[in-house]
Amino acid sequence: MDSDQWKLASLQTLEYLQRLGVKHLPKPSAKLSEILADWVDVSSKGSSGTSIASSRTQLQAPEPKQPTSQVPKQPAPAPAPVPVAAQVSTQVSAPAPVQVAAPSAMEPAARSVAKPSWPPVESPWMTPTRSAQDRSEALGQLKLQVEACRLCKDIVCHRRQTVFGVGPVTTRFVMIGDAPGPEEDRLGEPFVGSSGELFDKILRATGIPRDQVYILNTLKCRPPNNRVPSDMELDNCRPYMEAQLEILQPEYIICWGATAVRAVLQTTESIGRLRGRFHCYKKAKVLVTYHPTYLERAPEAKKLTWQDMQMLMRELGTLKA
Ligand code: URA
Ligand code: URA
Repeated sequence: MDSDQWKLASLQTLEYLQRLGVKHLPKPSAKLSEILADWVDVSSKGSSGTSIASSRTQLQAPEPKQPTSQVPKQPAPAPAPVPVAAQVSTQVSAPAPVQVAAPSAMEPAARSVAKPSWPPVESPWMTPTRSAQDRSEALGQLKLQVEACRLCKDIVCHRRQTVFGVGPVTTRFVMIGDAPGPEEDRLGEPFVGSSGELFDKILRATGIPRDQVYILNTLKCRPPNNRVPSDMELDNCRPYMEAQLEILQPEYIICWGATAVRAVLQTTESIGRLRGRFHCYKKAKVLVTYHPTYLERAPEAKKLTWQDMQMLMRELGTLKA
């Protein structure tokens, strides 16, 4: 497609989407209190319980879903000419190492990235919104490129398969984990192992059905013995995640754990300091919370993740303010 054809196609797509006004709005689950009791009971073992009690009260009467003024009905950015670089970024042929500050450690005390790029400010997506069919095709191509990727020498020989991501191609929510574990490596889907169980419970308590969110990992391959990914591995894989986000153009990105935070927000600031407010990645609002695996080790943090989910529900109008 030349750039005029591309613009025309994008305009048609936008018009079509605007006419449809299709949105996936989360519905509070019918069995919300049951689900909540399930994972809150677990979490209360390690916590004082006071916030959990109040969470429970709030949750038993979730507001009916209704879009708030904070939630844009339909993001319809004026289609801009598509820069060549942007097209390349969504149709990655071979991910160039990303030139970002690459901090070397995962600890909260690790150094932060250069000041000028932080905090990130809202900026437009690089490409016009695509139709569902275009998204499926673009993601399909990208998936093939990920499967063919051999950039991380230490990982390629250990992985069983790549784990690209799953979910509807038109979605308001993208959930980002760190890297596949053994089960994900075996089954080829993110969050299907033990941390996936807690992840599912949290989503259900939040009233966002798993099948309405797109789930992906920062790293598409399992690092041997589930070690923390190196800076180089993160840099190698980041263009794939960026391309996925550019294709999906979600309203909300939820970063589960420090690795996703590093890749999306490009900071090594701790989750403790970043949570509790929305950040920006292009036009998407980014929510940061603890990784389910971390929550299993530190159950006292579950109430904090629950607060983060409540912040999201408040934003979506599914929880009383
Ligand atoms: N942890 C993640 O972050 N992602 C997975 O897919 C599995 C475990
Ligand atoms: N460190 C991580 O890597 N993840 C968390 O969720 C919390 C601390």
